[in-house]
Amino acid sequence: MTDPASDLPPVSPVPSASAGPRTPSDVAAAWHRQAGDSVLLDGFHALKHAVRFGARVRIALTADRAGALALADELAGDVRDTLAELLTEVPHETYAALVPRPHPTAVAALAVRPSRADNLRRLAHTPRTAPVVVLDNPRNLGNAGAVIRLAAGFGATGVVTTGTLDPWHPTVVRGGAGLHFATAVERLTVEELPSGPVFALDPEGEDIRSLELPDDALLAFGSERSGLSAELRARADHLVALPMRPQVSSYNLATSVAMTLYHWSATSGSPSSATGRATGGAPGGAPV
Ligand SMILES: C[S@@+](CC[C@H](N)C(=O)[O-])C[C@H]1O[C@@H](n2cnc3c(N)ncnc32)[C@H](O)[C@@H]1O
Repeated sequence: MTDPASDLPPVSPVPSASAGPRTPSDVAAAWHRQAGDSVLLDGFHALKHAVRFGARVRIALTADRAGALALADELAGDVRDTLAELLTEVPHETYAALVPRPHPTAVAALAVRPSRADNLRRLAHTPRTAPVVVLDNPRNLGNAGAVIRLAAGFGATGVVTTGTLDPWHPTVVRGGAGLHFATAVERLTVEELPSGPVFALDPEGEDIRSLELPDDALLAFGSERSGLSAELRARADHLVALPMRPQVSSYNLATSVAMTLYHWSATSGSPSSATGRATGGAPGGAPV
């Protein structure tokens, strides 16, 4: 499978730790200057993932540099040196004043959002080697974040949302654990969806166990409230059901995506990257 981060520009860390002493107020001022159009990476794991998948980090702070680097030694040897270069230590009050909700790891960073043009190019690129996940008018920010994390884990080409939810909302980014940088995440209309056969998930569809989902599929899921929209249904080539005993109405959106991506990976798609920790073969060569 193509490494989704392979055509991103290289990481260009702000040389915070090596640039000599900076006062907490200098650091806070730099943070405020950059915060407006940046993606907030909340916590050690979000920063670790973003760096692994090629994010350009503008500034990274911690109230506990030794603790963060100990975590890096334990969990992220592949990016440990980059994190050491990026992270500037500030007093806890400075850190806590800059983030909406302090994270237990006391790490936060600001990264450049990938360009929409690049993401659209990735989504449109054919032949596609892994499906695009489409969330049709999702309502729950936590679900959207969980789906982006799943898509990254399975090496999906991208996650497209329709409707009003912003898939780059800070709460979605928090739920995605920094993995927005490992897959192409954009909001589009149904008419703008990339080409490819649409397999739309609906309890009334054909049993997924009788189907193979092709690598170029668009796997579409309905909204938590009302399921698939009429527009999406009109664009669908197949309606697909997940097995469910009678009297249960539906599964949660993110768990439906998990089952469907698992079915794709087990039956047709076999992203070399989705073998996970055991082989260390995730995109970028590191565990997701
Ligand atoms: C929480 S469900 C939506 C429930 C909604 N009240 C409805 O009327 O469909 C969110 C989405 O998950 C997917 N889903 C949930 N359970 C499913 C099942 N058993 N088979 C196929 N898709 C399912 C569908 O795409 C559905 O639109």
